[in-house]
Amino acid sequence: MQNFEYWNPTRILFGRGTTDRVGWECRKYGERVLLVYGGGSIKVTGLYERVIVRLQEAGCSIFELSGVQPNPRISKVREGVDICRREDIEVVLAVGGGSVIDTAKIVAAGARYDGDAWDFFTGKGVPKEKLPLGVVLTLAATGSEMNRNAVITNDETGEKLVVKNPVLFPDFSILDPENTFTVPREHTVYGIVDMMAHVFEQYFHKTPETPLQDRLSEGIMKTIIEYTPKVLANPTDYDARATIMWCGTLALNHLIEAGVVGDWATHRMELELSGVYDIPHGAGLAILFPQWMEYVLPLIPQRFAQFAERVWEIPRNGRNDLELGKMGIARTREWFREIGAPLTLREVGIGEDRLEEMAERVAQRGPIGVVKVLTKEDILTIYRRSL
Ligand code: NZQ
Ligand code: ZN
Repeated sequence: MQNFEYWNPTRILFGRGTTDRVGWECRKYGERVLLVYGGGSIKVTGLYERVIVRLQEAGCSIFELSGVQPNPRISKVREGVDICRREDIEVVLAVGGGSVIDTAKIVAAGARYDGDAWDFFTGKGVPKEKLPLGVVLTLAATGSEMNRNAVITNDETGEKLVVKNPVLFPDFSILDPENTFTVPREHTVYGIVDMMAHVFEQYFHKTPETPLQDRLSEGIMKTIIEYTPKVLANPTDYDARATIMWCGTLALNHLIEAGVVGDWATHRMELELSGVYDIPHGAGLAILFPQWMEYVLPLIPQRFAQFAERVWEIPRNGRNDLELGKMGIARTREWFREIGAPLTLREVGIGEDRLEEMAERVAQRGPIGVVKVLTKEDILTIYRRSL
C-alpha cells in the first residue's frame, strides 16, 4: 500500500425529503444565490419549482445560469463567472448531473480568480479559492457531488480537459434519490457504466498489498451489478435508486483510491472522444474499457483473475490467471450489452477518420496510464479495436 493523505470536506445530506433543506443550507453561506441548471429537465420534473420555493422561504435572492449542456462548455462557465461578478453572488447552487456540477464548480472558482477560468485547465492558473458551492444531485454517475474534479470542454478547440483541486469540493451535496426517478433509461445506463468505470480505474493497478481497497471496490462493483436490473425494471424503486446513487458517490470520492495508484488511461482516451464527438461519457467508456482491459491483461493477469472470481463469481476450474481474466473481461462486455450500453464506435456513429489525430493529442498531453504507459501507437490500436 502507498502512503496517502485523505481529506473530504463535502457534507452529504442523503435521503428522501432532503431536497427541502436546500434553502436554509444555502442561506448559511449567503443570501445571493446563483442557481445553475441544465437543459430543462428540472422544470419538467417539478424540482425547479421546489428549489425556488425553498430558496425564497430562506430569504435568498435568486439569479440563474441555465442551459448547461452535457459535455459542458467553457463559454457557459464564462457566462456564469460574469453573473457572479456583476451581481455579487455569494453562493453557487448546482441542480443537476455531472455537467451542471462541473460547470458550477468552475464558475465558483472562476469568480474568485483574476483571469480566464480556462487557465485552470491549461495549467496557466490554479484555483486558490471559490465561492461556497451547494449541489442538488439529479443523476447518479460522476461522483462530482463529493469530489475535487471538474471536466469542461473548450467550445473553440474541442479539447475536453480535467482539473483536480481540493478547492473544488462542494461544501454540501443533497442526495435525494427521488430526484433520480425521472432519469431516462439511457442516461441511467451511462451513469452506471461511468461509476463502474471509476471503480475499474482504481481497481486495475499495480500497487501491491491493497486488500481493503480491493474489497471496498469489489463491494461497490457487486452492488452495482445486483441493483442495475432493479433500477432498469422499476425506475421509481426508492431503495434501488438510493443504492445506485450512493455507489456512484463512493466510486469517485477518493476513498477507494487511498493507498493505490489508479490507471485512468481509459478516461483520458474517452474524454478525447466525447470532447470531439459530443457523445455521452458513459457510452464512450463502455466501448473503450473492455478493449483496454484486453490490451493490458497480460501485464496484470492475477488482478483480472481476482476480478473474474470475486466480482463475476466465475469458478476457477483449473484455469490459469490469463484464461480466467479473459472470461471476466468477456463477462463485463456481455453485461454492458445486457444493460443496453454500446460496445463499438460505429454504434455511436464514429468512424476511422479522426482516430489518429485524437491518439496524437491524447499522447501529447503527457504520460497516460499506470498499468501500461500508453504510447500514441497503443492508443491508436485501442481506438481502432473499438471500431
Ligand atoms: O440538461 P438536463 O435537461 O438537466 O438533462 C440532463 C442531461 O440531458 C439529464 N438529466 C439529469 N438529471 C435528470 C435528467 N433527466 C431527467 N431527470 C433527471 N433527474 O441527463 C443528461 C445527462 O446529464 P449530465 O449531467 O451530462 O450527465 P452526467 O452526470 O453523466 O455528467 C457527465 C459529465 O461529467 C463528466 C463527463 O465527462 C461529462 O462531461 N465527468 C465528471 C467527473 C467529475 N467531475 O468527477 C468525472 C467523470 O469521469 C466524468 O468525466
Ligand atoms: Zn467517468
